[in-house]
Amino acid sequence: MADLIITIDGPAASGKSTTARLLARKLDASFLDTGAMYRAVTLAAMQAGIDLNDEQKLLDITQKFDFQFSDRAGKMTVRIDDADVTEQIRSLEVTANARFIAAAPKVREELVKMQRHFAAVRRKIVTEGRDQGTVAFGDADIKFYLTADSFERARRRQAELLTKGIDGDLEQIQEAIEKRDKSDESRAVGPLKPAEDAIVIDTTNLSIEQVVEKLAGYVEEKCSKKT
Ligand code: DC
Repeated sequence: MADLIITIDGPAASGKSTTARLLARKLDASFLDTGAMYRAVTLAAMQAGIDLNDEQKLLDITQKFDFQFSDRAGKMTVRIDDADVTEQIRSLEVTANARFIAAAPKVREELVKMQRHFAAVRRKIVTEGRDQGTVAFGDADIKFYLTADSFERARRRQAELLTKGIDGDLEQIQEAIEKRDKSDESRAVGPLKPAEDAIVIDTTNLSIEQVVEKLAGYVEEKCSKKT
């Protein structure tokens, strides 16, 4: 297992992905976006045309295809059987359907195994998702939980969409985010919640740079105690 494991969990659009990527770069660590794993299985299942409620078929998809996740130059590249699907897994359809895959216990088990394997062959890792501190890496060195109010998260998501030329309606985006929160929090397996020993940070009034600085401060403190 890696010498240093940092987990960042939190709701959709709380800034955890960008924060995790920048923190990993600052610490010269690997970065794992576990949401990309759920998205990749979702895309593969959609392409195969299977019933997204059929857990056994979802598990077959997870085991049958070769999913590759690599973090080159701070970017998470995703391949399914050698085809690069890094952009495709961000589509609105995949985003909406990912909840079916996230609610399938056997698929979660399989993906958690892949996440642990990813960490096992790396020295330092910053991993982000919903259950990284609670399930995948219960004994992580440092656990963070990022939150922000849903209006602010919707505002951030809208700004992100604008950079891609999509003019989204703020109210609709906020509604979709709140719906995803409910589905993430009410899941029977790997639900979204802070680990008991997580450092909870409300990012509503903080810039990404301020969040990264804050987290890096905690990491530095922890590492200085370790040595
Ligand atoms: O963070 P994201 O929006 O890319 O996540 C995509 C989906 O995967 C979302 O429905 C939540 C789910 N997910 C999960 O259940 N557990 C994780 N560790 C990461 C993501």
